[in-house]
Amino acid sequence: MSFTSRAAVHYGHERTLDITEVQVEEPGPGNVLVRLGASGVCGSDRHVLDGEWPMPSPTVMGHEGAGTVEAIGEGVQDVVVGDHVVLSWFYPCRRCTNCLSGRAYVCTGSRSEECLLPDGNTPLSRDGTRVYPYLAVGSMSEYTVVPETAAVKIPSEVPFDVASLLGCSIATGVGAVVNDAMVAPGSSAVVIGAGGVGLSIIMGLKLAGAHPIIAVDLNEQKLNAAQRLGATHTVISGDDTQHQVAEITGGGADYAFEAIGRKEAIESLPSLLVRGGTAVLVGLPPAGQSINFDGLELAESGMRILGSNYGSTVPGRDFPRLAELYLAGKLPVDDLISDRISLDEVNEAFEAMRRGERARSVIMF
Ligand code: APR
Ligand code: ZN
Repeated sequence: MSFTSRAAVHYGHERTLDITEVQVEEPGPGNVLVRLGASGVCGSDRHVLDGEWPMPSPTVMGHEGAGTVEAIGEGVQDVVVGDHVVLSWFYPCRRCTNCLSGRAYVCTGSRSEECLLPDGNTPLSRDGTRVYPYLAVGSMSEYTVVPETAAVKIPSEVPFDVASLLGCSIATGVGAVVNDAMVAPGSSAVVIGAGGVGLSIIMGLKLAGAHPIIAVDLNEQKLNAAQRLGATHTVISGDDTQHQVAEITGGGADYAFEAIGRKEAIESLPSLLVRGGTAVLVGLPPAGQSINFDGLELAESGMRILGSNYGSTVPGRDFPRLAELYLAGKLPVDDLISDRISLDEVNEAFEAMRRGERARSVIMF
């Protein structure tokens, strides 16, 4: 049995999405059917639309979603019908060495990057042709089917728009600070790029007690948002950035986060750090791009470079924690949402993102 769902579909070479109907299968063993409440519009979707990352197509885009469990497949134990869930854009296999070592975020058994369910199928089709859910989520659709390990129950008091962002930008940004960098209170930090991910890093830095917290962006509106979320200083990105960061921190920051995915910005991180400081690479550059650092400077200064993917999130552990922090008023996720839109407005949201506008657009279903 299958049924139709309105969805935003990407056909390989197009920069825009088609709002159209796809067929969704009933959930098979171990999978769950989710009715989406909200889906964020994330920079990673834009990378795919702009041809920076190879992906199978056609694809239902969206990987930052939350909704309600509508049906469960055979053997599902983690959730029941009616649960509110946050979707994870990788599903841990729970069997590989990394999963068994508690490092599910580098799971080697997952097929989420292939946009496939564990059995190698996709739950979506159109006119009899296979359609891929982006990162095995495909949240820009009224309905989707994901493995139960990618649907994490959270308290139903958390509104769906907020819950959707917990699944990518918040997990990525807060996780980069808390799980990867493990920033200690009183550490100084600079964040380059104040989009959805950069602003989430700033929220995480405030939560961790960092000071000062410096936001760097080209766009003044983004810097205002950064200030509301916890940045103590803002800098318009330009030739003078290094000097200003040195001035504010008294010689360089303890931590420098990149949250754009731009080669030049990543390569500038060492110049913003104090000796022995830590550069954290959160933004994702186009596939195949090399980043250059001065090897001698790196070694002599005792600098650390950390790659940070999805904030090293363990969904079942971290999503409920982030939800509780939100409910306790310690993560002002509402302030990250600049626009609530319909599915039909998704192409405009990507256009605004390309212009560097909007903190986070969220599609409401
Ligand atoms: N200097 C400073 N800021 C810049 C520059 C620059 N040269 N170029 C762009 N920016 C800013 C934009 O103004 C915007 O505020 O970077 C921000 C990027 O934000 P978004 O486009 O909203 O992207 P986001 O969803 O935050 O994702 C950022 O993280 O997870 C990854 O794949 C994701 O690589 C992407 C990155
Ligand atoms: Zn994302």
